[in-house]
Amino acid sequence: MTTTAGPRTVGVAHTRVEGRDKVTGAARYASEQPFDHLAHGWLVLSAIARGRVRAVGDAAVRAMPGVLAVFHSGNAPRLMTDYTSILGPPDPTLALFQHDRVPHQGWPVALVVAETPEQAREAAEALVVEYDEEPHDVAFHAGRPDTYIPEDANAVASKGDLEAELAASAVVVDASYTTPEEHHSAMEPHAVTARWDGGRLEVIDTNQGAMWVAGELAQLFSLDPSSVRVRSEHIGGAFGSKGVRPHQVAAVMAATELQRPVRLALTRRQTFAITGYRSPTAQRVRLGADPDGRLRALEHEALSLTSTLRPFVETSAVLGRVLYDARAHHTAHRLVDLDMPTPTWMRAPGEAPGSFALESALDELADRLGMDPIELRARNEPTVGPLSGLPFSSRDLLGCFREGARRFGWAERDPRPRSRREGRWLLGTGTAAATYPSGAAPSTASVTAEADGTFTVRITAADVGTGARTALTLIAAEALDVEPDRVTVRIGDSDFGPAWVAGGSMGTRSWSLAVSSAARELRGRLALADGDIPPEGITARTDTAGLLAELAKKERHSFGAQFAEVAVDVTTGEIRVRRMLGIFAAGRIVNPLTARSQLVGGMIWGLSMALHEEAVRDPASGGQLGADFANYHVAAHADVPAIEADFIDDPVPDDPVGVKGIGEIGIVGAAAAISNAVRHATGVRHRDLPLRPDRVL
Ligand code: MOS
Repeated sequence: MTTTAGPRTVGVAHTRVEGRDKVTGAARYASEQPFDHLAHGWLVLSAIARGRVRAVGDAAVRAMPGVLAVFHSGNAPRLMTDYTSILGPPDPTLALFQHDRVPHQGWPVALVVAETPEQAREAAEALVVEYDEEPHDVAFHAGRPDTYIPEDANAVASKGDLEAELAASAVVVDASYTTPEEHHSAMEPHAVTARWDGGRLEVIDTNQGAMWVAGELAQLFSLDPSSVRVRSEHIGGAFGSKGVRPHQVAAVMAATELQRPVRLALTRRQTFAITGYRSPTAQRVRLGADPDGRLRALEHEALSLTSTLRPFVETSAVLGRVLYDARAHHTAHRLVDLDMPTPTWMRAPGEAPGSFALESALDELADRLGMDPIELRARNEPTVGPLSGLPFSSRDLLGCFREGARRFGWAERDPRPRSRREGRWLLGTGTAAATYPSGAAPSTASVTAEADGTFTVRITAADVGTGARTALTLIAAEALDVEPDRVTVRIGDSDFGPAWVAGGSMGTRSWSLAVSSAARELRGRLALADGDIPPEGITARTDTAGLLAELAKKERHSFGAQFAEVAVDVTTGEIRVRRMLGIFAAGRIVNPLTARSQLVGGMIWGLSMALHEEAVRDPASGGQLGADFANYHVAAHADVPAIEADFIDDPVPDDPVGVKGIGEIGIVGAAAAISNAVRHATGVRHRDLPLRPDRVL
């Protein structure tokens, strides 16, 4: 093998390897793949929030132009719904048309398939579904009597005597916070095409894990896993919403029954209804401290909702278990079952709403103590995991605050509220800590040395828009010691074998371990082959299960410090964020260009969460009011000020690649930093998101 002493490939900014394809339109997204003889499906979603489907008037609709089939609980083929997926128990939201029960508004009750999307939509809108309606309940609030502690490994963690430490504390903060229902709203709506081809089911999809989707579809349809191939090459955002959803099941059902390719492309409204969302939360934080700021007690309880179908826990209370030392800790989650769609992971599930509560409460404590909020955090820095007692693989939260404070100009801050004013604008600054776990899961990868001197990497990774494909190109080039332009990375194809999903900030770390390990093995083989490469190339394939099992059990997390400056209009209550700065300690940064974009994106989402995002449920219908971008507000360019994200060195000595996760941490703490800045500007503390003008005035 010829090796080059090229530039270090990891850590040097690199534009996306597929960037040109994307901006020229050559990169095809899931709904853009041409197929002959394509039929189109349209889902009919329930108009009621609870009850049963009594009758579906499909006869009239079958006679409409172009209509090929109507599926519903009265005629749909049976699915195998009792199975174990790679992410746990079966998902009852995938039992499409398997029963007549309606558990929430927006539940799929029928699928119309027609020759064109327009014909399918017209027929779907003409379809008369009769229901036996039952009273529903979608009212989420902290005072409900029917909340419960779920059976979840993360549900409760405690140490010490909380009440005794609170009683012994010189200062106690006891505050309640709420965050609303929020939606992912990926730029590319969900779309899927399914077809049978040469005895195999082929699914062209947009998802966070092609193996995951393939595995679930194989089980639901009782197919041999080797006969299912899912491809998901380009993905326009996902954020937790692009797993296995009813539309993929619908497409496979129709393609199988009709024996022709069937496509479903969800509308924006449908993505709000059936692709998951973040539960609203009601949280209570109690902090007890000595006069010097040292925490005696940290309590964080979080209530979220789930559907009547299965428990999903928004784990908002987990981050205190990592961030702060205290003699006594009590962190717990509660659920309430409502006639609502099942929530799901949404960027920084748990930590995003949880950090708004905990990092606001820390700021309240700093106010009460008359102490700088960064100094307060420094006084409560743990040396080992506060609950686990395990060492940190690396932790430089205070380094993030130091560097952030220096660049933000924190030292010049007058801590007194309402101390800065420009005309009708009150100005303030705030800060908050961020953390997110940095896990890894077993993955397989192969690397082939081609006869022409190039290398091909194959791994069932997903590039949800983050630049994962490019990151893996750099990782492979480094491990092979070649220039990145000699490496082609192929991803998003379940035929490449098992690999972890793009989720939980675990994708790039898990895949990097697999790719670098396969590349190292390939170099060994090439040395033996002595430059003699057959036409089919030489391939090395590895699985990282063994490697991960050897990794010592430690607290592995990314850390960060968020800073924000806001201006609050005293006449309208409008908040303008003037600047944000995030400094992160997140292991080795593979590609600073895309890593920065990803973190800035997360921070913008934090701004959006702080000021705009709020899905409103109509108690009368149980549905979401205005499930579209006219009514569900997300940050627009005019809302986005000077935002900067940067990194400090964060070596992870015991890790083979030293890569930590950065997918989620950008949003963590961002809303709290903004809210803390609003409190500094105005002297008024807000504990309910979003910080709408009517709340701020
Ligand atoms: Mo992420 S919410 O794990 O896609």
